[in-house]
Amino acid sequence: MSEKLLIVKDLSTTFATAGGPLPAVDGVSFDLEQNETLGIVGESGSGKTVLSRTIMGLQPRTNVTVTGSATINGFEVVGASEKAKREIWGTEVAMVFQDPMTSLNPVMRIGKQIDEALRVRLGMDRAAAKARAIELLELVGIPSPVERYNAFPGQLSGGMRQRVVIATALACSPKLLMADEPTTGLDVTIQAQILNLLDELKERLKMSVILVTHDLGVVATRTSRIVVMYAGRIVETGNTRDVFYHHRMPYTRALLESSPKVSNLSHTRLTTIPGRPPNLLNLSDGCSFAPRCSYATDQCHLVRPPLQAADEPGHAFACWNPLPTTRGASSS
Ligand SMILES: Nc1ncnc2c1ncn2[C@@H]1O[C@H](COP(=O)(O)OP(=O)(O)O)[C@@H](O)[C@H]1O
Ligand SMILES: [Mg+2]
Repeated sequence: MSEKLLIVKDLSTTFATAGGPLPAVDGVSFDLEQNETLGIVGESGSGKTVLSRTIMGLQPRTNVTVTGSATINGFEVVGASEKAKREIWGTEVAMVFQDPMTSLNPVMRIGKQIDEALRVRLGMDRAAAKARAIELLELVGIPSPVERYNAFPGQLSGGMRQRVVIATALACSPKLLMADEPTTGLDVTIQAQILNLLDELKERLKMSVILVTHDLGVVATRTSRIVVMYAGRIVETGNTRDVFYHHRMPYTRALLESSPKVSNLSHTRLTTIPGRPPNLLNLSDGCSFAPRCSYATDQCHLVRPPLQAADEPGHAFACWNPLPTTRGASSS
């Protein structure tokens, strides 16, 4: 058995806001094997980015409380000093942020942006850093890397820029790469290219990858397991196959139906889940999805359902009135 690279236990992140405490992440637990790709999915505002940033140890300095535990290769991130975290950023864990334009400096040549990490973090000299930066540009599939080394971000297409962002994240050979909506805003062909690239790099560099997305279509063929989030909590998790074909939580089905790629399989073509996302400042004691759920019973509105084990190993869902199991139907 391989050792777990990441163990997240009862992790919560609460922001102090003018409207009161806002529980953006609430009691999340999951883990990740070496060389595994995990998908974190959920509609906008479900806490995916805050969860990813909390695992990295990146929070605002004030007005935030983090409890629970997140260990990366044995390093406890929660409560660690900035100095200690800087030791693991880049080398143990790196993140591709949601918006590639904000993670690149528009007035700095792309090669220099990669160089910097190598010189500061790995202590490489100028020449070695430049050679390695060009190697990284080549690794992420940038044509003519020697010439592109001197380009500015604005001179590259969106897809090429995202490749540069990935190269930057890979500079110090992290064991865990977290990619937060890495292809949102790119057109579908480029999306597939970037996702294929991440797959390839994961195999070549023996990394683990967390793929964060609102679109289940993105994770369908590229992850071994999926965590489904709603209102800061995990509401369903399991092997990718089980989440797609044997999901029990109505919200998971709604997410599937709202995915432009996946919904081709059914006859529905929704772009968003009906109803309003929950107000995290005013959550009920019941299931947060109940107000939008056509299966909700009285109990759903009153008592929060815990994660309970489904039939399949590793599959769990939080629902009092789950969708019927499709086990028998699909195996015939
Ligand atoms: N710094 C912050 N202060 C207060 N609330 C925040 C902060 N960052 C995020 N949130 C809130 O946390 C919730 C989860 O946000 P986020 O993780 O960005 O969602 P997702 O990535 O799933 O779209 C949202 O309600 C968002 O408004
Ligand atoms: Mg996000």
